[in-house]
Amino acid sequence: MAKHQLKPFTIYCGDNLKMLNEIPDESVDLIYIAPPFNSNRNYEVFWGDAQEKRAFNDRFGDAQAYIEYMQPRTKELYRVLKKTGSFYYHCDWHASHYVKIMLDEIFGANFFQNEIVWKRTSAHNDSKTFGNAHDTIFFYTRTAKFNFKKVYTPYEEEYLKRFKNIDSDGRKWTDDNLSAKGLSGGGYDYEYKGAI
Ligand SMILES: C[S@@+](CC[C@H](N)C(=O)[O-])C[C@H]1O[C@@H](n2cnc3c(N)ncnc32)[C@H](O)[C@@H]1O
Repeated sequence: MAKHQLKPFTIYCGDNLKMLNEIPDESVDLIYIAPPFNSNRNYEVFWGDAQEKRAFNDRFGDAQAYIEYMQPRTKELYRVLKKTGSFYYHCDWHASHYVKIMLDEIFGANFFQNEIVWKRTSAHNDSKTFGNAHDTIFFYTRTAKFNFKKVYTPYEEEYLKRFKNIDSDGRKWTDDNLSAKGLSGGGYDYEYKGAI
């Protein structure tokens, strides 16, 4: 049976395994998933003015059961991703190490591009375990030739103040001392392009 083309700006509701099955191969530019994290908790929120209760269960029993749930879904996501596309998997310490191995198997370890660490809070009251204060986002692609649009944002005025010079192209710059002081962290002379 022919698969449907994705309609732009459309929200598809339902189990993603079933919904993904409708989507043609290699048709999606970017996939970002924030699936269950295997946190062994149930989550409930009261939504909107009507305070509608919305909940999802993040209890899988163990890491293997979690991976068995996520693996067929991730394989489907791989199938629908374009050769030039990018894939992001958001998780945390509960399952990240198992997820990495699963993603290496599906995408190929060579197409693992980065592990992005998202620091969520500055501290938790869990110093005995050194504080679990970050999430992990694994970034994979299907090939080495993937699209990536660099995003630029203006610098803060305060930050720019330190660049007191302007070169002939109009670009601001500053000079700085790159040497380290003291024997433990430097104090050595090196030659660079003939200069010491
Ligand atoms: C960690 S939450 C992320 C929620 C969302 N990113 C947000 O910030 O509100 C995981 C979500 O995945 C949904 N989910 C779990 N299994 C799913 C499935 N098979 N198909 C579609 N959604 C699923 C859950 O209902 C839950 O809303």
